[in-house]
Amino acid sequence: MAFQISNRKYYVLTGIVILTCLITLTLTVSFIVSKTKDISIENPNHSISSPAKPVWKWQCEKNSCQKRRITDQDNDLAILSLPACRYFCSTSAGIWPIPTGEVSVGDRLIKVNYYSIDVVSNTSDTPINALVQEAIKEFKNDIKSSITSGINPGGLSVVVSLGISDTTTNRLTLDTPEGYSLKISDPGSSSIKVDIQAGTFFGARNGLQTLTQLIIYDNIRNEVQMPNSASITDKPAFAHRGIVLDTSRNFITTSALKRTIKAMGASKLNTFHWHLTDTHSFPYESASLPELHRIGAYDPSKVYTRQDVKDLVEYARVRGVKVVPEFDAPAHVGEGWQDTGYLVCLNAQPWQIYCVEPPCGQFDPTKEGLYDAIEDLYGDMLEQFEPDVFHMGGDEVTFKCWENTTSIVEWMRAKGWGTTDRDFVKLWNHFQSNALERLYKKAGREIPAIMWTSHLTTPEYLVESLPKDKYYIQVWSESDDDQIKQLLDNGYKIILSNSDALYMDCGFGSWVATGNNWCSPYIGWQKVYENNPSKIAGDKVHQVLGAEAALWTEQADSSSVDGRLWPRAAAMAEVLWSNASTGWEAAEHRFLAHRERLVLMGIDADAIEPEWCRQNEENCRTGSRFNV
Ligand SMILES: *[C@@H]1O[C@H](CO)[C@@H](O)[C@H](O)[C@H]1NC(C)=O
Ligand SMILES: *[C@@H]1O[C@H](CO)[C@@H](O)[C@H](O)[C@H]1NC(C)=O
Ligand SMILES: *[C@@H]1O[C@H](CO)[C@@H](O)[C@H](O)[C@H]1NC(C)=O
Ligand SMILES: *[C@@H]1O[C@H](CO)[C@@H](O)[C@H](O)[C@H]1NC(C)=O
Repeated sequence: MAFQISNRKYYVLTGIVILTCLITLTLTVSFIVSKTKDISIENPNHSISSPAKPVWKWQCEKNSCQKRRITDQDNDLAILSLPACRYFCSTSAGIWPIPTGEVSVGDRLIKVNYYSIDVVSNTSDTPINALVQEAIKEFKNDIKSSITSGINPGGLSVVVSLGISDTTTNRLTLDTPEGYSLKISDPGSSSIKVDIQAGTFFGARNGLQTLTQLIIYDNIRNEVQMPNSASITDKPAFAHRGIVLDTSRNFITTSALKRTIKAMGASKLNTFHWHLTDTHSFPYESASLPELHRIGAYDPSKVYTRQDVKDLVEYARVRGVKVVPEFDAPAHVGEGWQDTGYLVCLNAQPWQIYCVEPPCGQFDPTKEGLYDAIEDLYGDMLEQFEPDVFHMGGDEVTFKCWENTTSIVEWMRAKGWGTTDRDFVKLWNHFQSNALERLYKKAGREIPAIMWTSHLTTPEYLVESLPKDKYYIQVWSESDDDQIKQLLDNGYKIILSNSDALYMDCGFGSWVATGNNWCSPYIGWQKVYENNPSKIAGDKVHQVLGAEAALWTEQADSSSVDGRLWPRAAAMAEVLWSNASTGWEAAEHRFLAHRERLVLMGIDADAIEPEWCRQNEENCRTGSRFNV
């Protein structure tokens, strides 16, 4: 009768203007230099003044950048750095994720004065101004991070104007408009003018993020350059674009969490789903129940204090990311709850009988006091995170644990229940409906709750257990699981974390035996990129709120979290932002460039190819799909 999800699943869970570089450019008038017949770098002082004469340049050939020797015959103006070549040679000027509206960009790059880039906003004296000012600081930091050598003096100054119409929205929700328009006007002789217009702060921040990517560093001339003109309109296809990160199996430091959130902002992901607690440790400082982290943290230093949480929520907000807390229950609880009397099966052995992963632990739904405790916890989380949705977890309950607890079975008998699967579902629903009531009580409204796919989301129990007007379902089963179709047919809104494409912890060694871990092999970025929700949901794709890449941290901590998530999560980011339906091949060069951008920002993103392949595009791929 014991229910286990399955043995395998054992461990949890455009009018785009294509800028071909082959554009035959009309004669381009530049400042001093009168005419060039090729795409060019505008460099009034006409000099490549590196200490040592550069050897290599990049040339756009057949939509790819090719590394070529610089010869004496080369016109200085036609010598392109790799980032400049990427700008001219890519679809949509190399922007990641690719914009969904118009993208037209100019055919010249102009040297700008890095020390004279100003951003002005029409939000002074409004409630969002502090947020805007922080985002401007971040924008300047991001440009700085791309500068890998010195900067030669000179160049035009830049003035960026932000126009934001809604000056009160400072919290991102599923309904917040995140679109923007960006215009770069051909400068006179004084300064380059950039105009970003957006409905909300979050849209404007996305506009700044795109602008960051249009401002490139030319490492041949050691100067910062940007396009002479641009007109871009952009908004996301999916509202929920996230990462779920587990900080219980292993503790992740706040600085590592910030790196993840920074990379999310740089990739226009907007939801950090924080799987704060689990059976293994309880690192969250609850103001109401301080004994939980005192007993449950791995170490007093491995705690997210109230101040840490406050800082993280604010740090994320500046980067266009909302933090959604998860309190997973009634399973996935353990350390921290020992003294409460609400816990059963803690570290029960042999664990395979009582849970899906050691150590075991489940709440006892028959204890009335339990609901008061979780109400307090919900209250703390709602107050600190102010989320528009709340994640209640709800996965991998093992009935055998409850069945093995005499008092629980007696409580069920007294109600006239038996001990069949259906009876344990009743017990689970008793927990879930009580917990939901306490969540609503603290939220002061019927806040939408998210639940993982589980026994409750199977066709037999779904509709009676989790009404679709109250719950969104996060799917962790594989993309071909019938349950997805059934959820959609029943009218549910879903979030995809299908483990065959979005589980970033797959493909490492097992930790309970030898061999590979449960969801091996490793999922390459190509597969992540081609996991388009439309392929999974078909004509019901409008019921897909979005997706989340998942990192369960049994085998990752602060020292490996960057490499596990990045750059793969950025591949998902483009799919969700742009609804990209092309194969990964078309995205590869831009993806490699984005990975480089993340590394320069301080994210330890994994290398995915030898740098040689990035410098010599189209020379490495075999043409066979998913074997590279
Ligand atoms: C050209 O070089 C001179 C001297 O180095 C400098 O003062 C001037 O600002 C430069 N002009 C531009 C547009 O870079
Ligand atoms: C700021 O710019 C937005 C977008 O152009 C505009 O709708 C809004 O009226 C402007 N606000 C102020 C105070 O000028
Ligand atoms: C994504 O594209 C598919 C076609 O490939 C289309 O059916 C779907 O409506 C699009 N979804 C969104 C959210 O734009
Ligand atoms: C719990 O399971 C163990 C091992 O299967 C068994 O020996 C024990 O009797 C069970 N206890 C209850 C109360 O069911």
